[in-house]
Amino acid sequence: MAKEKDQNTKEHKNLLISLLCNFSSELKLILMAFLVLCTLATLLPLIPSSFSISASDLRFCISRISASDSVNSTTSVVKNPPESDNADTKPPLNDKTEPLNGVTKRTFTGYGWAAYNFVLMNAYRGGVNSFAVIGLSSKPLHVYSHPSYRCEWIPLNQSDNRILTNGTKILTDWGYGRVYTTVVVNCTFPATKIINPKNSGGTLLLHATTGDSDRNLTDSIPVLTESQNSVDFSLYKDDSDSDSKFDYLYCGSSLYGNLSPQRVREWIVYHVRFFGERSHFVLHDAGGISEEVFEVLKPWIELGRVSVNDIRDQERFDGYYHNQFMIVNDCLHRYRFMAKWIFFFDVDEFVYVPVKESIDSVMESLKEYSQFTIEQMPMSSQICYSGDGPARTYRKWGFEKLAYRDVKKVPRRDRKYAVQPRNVFATGVHMSQNLLGKTYHKAEGKIRYFHYHGSISQRREPCRHLFNDTRIVFNNNPYVLDTTMRDIGLAVKTFEIRKIGDRLLRTKQ
Ligand SMILES: *[C@@H]1O[C@H](CO)[C@@H](O)[C@H](O)[C@H]1NC(C)=O
Ligand SMILES: *[C@@H]1O[C@H](CO)[C@@H](O)[C@H](O)[C@H]1NC(C)=O
Ligand SMILES: *[C@@H]1O[C@H](CO)[C@@H](O)[C@H](O)[C@H]1NC(C)=O
Ligand SMILES: *[C@@H]1O[C@H](CO)[C@@H](O)[C@H](O)[C@H]1NC(C)=O
Ligand SMILES: *[C@@H]1O[C@H](CO)[C@@H](O)[C@H](O)[C@H]1NC(C)=O
Ligand SMILES: *[C@@H]1O[C@H](CO)[C@@H](O)[C@H](O)[C@H]1NC(C)=O
Repeated sequence: MAKEKDQNTKEHKNLLISLLCNFSSELKLILMAFLVLCTLATLLPLIPSSFSISASDLRFCISRISASDSVNSTTSVVKNPPESDNADTKPPLNDKTEPLNGVTKRTFTGYGWAAYNFVLMNAYRGGVNSFAVIGLSSKPLHVYSHPSYRCEWIPLNQSDNRILTNGTKILTDWGYGRVYTTVVVNCTFPATKIINPKNSGGTLLLHATTGDSDRNLTDSIPVLTESQNSVDFSLYKDDSDSDSKFDYLYCGSSLYGNLSPQRVREWIVYHVRFFGERSHFVLHDAGGISEEVFEVLKPWIELGRVSVNDIRDQERFDGYYHNQFMIVNDCLHRYRFMAKWIFFFDVDEFVYVPVKESIDSVMESLKEYSQFTIEQMPMSSQICYSGDGPARTYRKWGFEKLAYRDVKKVPRRDRKYAVQPRNVFATGVHMSQNLLGKTYHKAEGKIRYFHYHGSISQRREPCRHLFNDTRIVFNNNPYVLDTTMRDIGLAVKTFEIRKIGDRLLRTKQ
């Protein structure tokens, strides 16, 4: 998941502004002025260390606004009553309240809805009595109210009983959401109840309650329909992972921006070779898969190794970076019973195991863990090794020529991870925090990833500076020559020709 670090205070301002959109439009200007001041005052001390902002910070800020509000704060509500027939007939409370001990209690009345209560992506069965519903929900609602979820199974055969249970919400991107936050609702019915036991079909309803004090609405949403005889209950037996369709599945997060077709070509063939025949790659196109990028994926789609999901419509809902948390959670639940392991990393990252090992041997040695994290090897995405002379350097692939590794000491670098999905109920930021079983953080001797930060999103020759020494200092930053990836280049190119021929030879940067 790229870009978490690029979060800045502006986004939090956006969030605050969106919160305030519920106020009348004439109030907005005044409030925004105060808001900017408050936001700066609240956030300035936080900026260097952390970008998280707690609900109490927001409340503090907003209460300061309301306390020093101008006298005109309710006029727009009075002057511009809602047009509809069932318009509020009660006068706004705050006009009438008498001062008590010299303090006037002010209230705020919301009109309309600025963000959906629930935006459904999909729902999946996750056991004989359990389902997961993946979607988005208004973030202010989750910060200031107590939205809750109930799940109801409605059998197709109307003489069978309906069953109701409480849903558990998992907020996997807590702290990152914008107007929308990602919600995974876990609907688990009592253990004694098999849902749809005769495989006669039915529908799962999600009752989403806003828990808002002045307008506590419930939306009932049909999220999943099972037709007759459509459920394969054998999937949910404990030992069923031996016949998973895939050993390794890659769940990519939202792809956006102007991606380099050549870099994507290198990434996909490297990993198709690396993970072997029993692997599959699920990519999500949030606008990043242009026609040229699609061309380099097409041979692998035709071979059944790659699937592309068009998720461009999610752009209507302003969540964290093209709603990547919703996307990866959807992927997790969609393939949960089809793969032994699911990997989560980005398309500028290359997973690597030592030459004497294979991915199979490494994963076998990690199988007691439900999850392990993968350490990063940060590589420069502009300094190239020119040991073969400059002319030859430019013809090399990105991971061959970008051979300088950043060895600056930093307290902690981002990690990526892989999970055995049957034990996992939701995926998170750099690891899952909703799982059964153990997590392992010391796999660096067995598996790592090389990270060419930003190299994928520039459509030009990446080499800005050429060096040929084994140790260099560039921009006051120490680098060492690391030819680990470079040494695999020839094998990867040969693999590509063998599998799909020479149709991608003319790919552009
Ligand atoms: C407050 O209301 C008065 C009249 O009701 C108007 O003249 C004035 O412009 C308003 N002030 C603001 C800041 O909206
Ligand atoms: C819901 O959570 C329970 C345990 O908390 C788990 O056993 C079940 O597999 C989860 N269901 C889904 C669909 O993730
Ligand atoms: C519906 O369920 C009832 C009782 O379980 C059963 O007698 C009936 O045959 C079922 N109807 C259909 C169409 O399956
Ligand atoms: C569902 O949640 C409500 C409160 O939110 C609680 O009173 C009720 O007992 C719960 N029902 C079940 C079946 O857990
Ligand atoms: C909202 O309504 C639900 C039932 O529809 C109820 O359980 C809940 O307590 C209500 N919440 C508030 C804040 O009124
Ligand atoms: C390394 O680069 C320097 C100039 O940058 C050049 O003079 C030297 O011949 C190069 N050495 C090798 C082994 O390519």
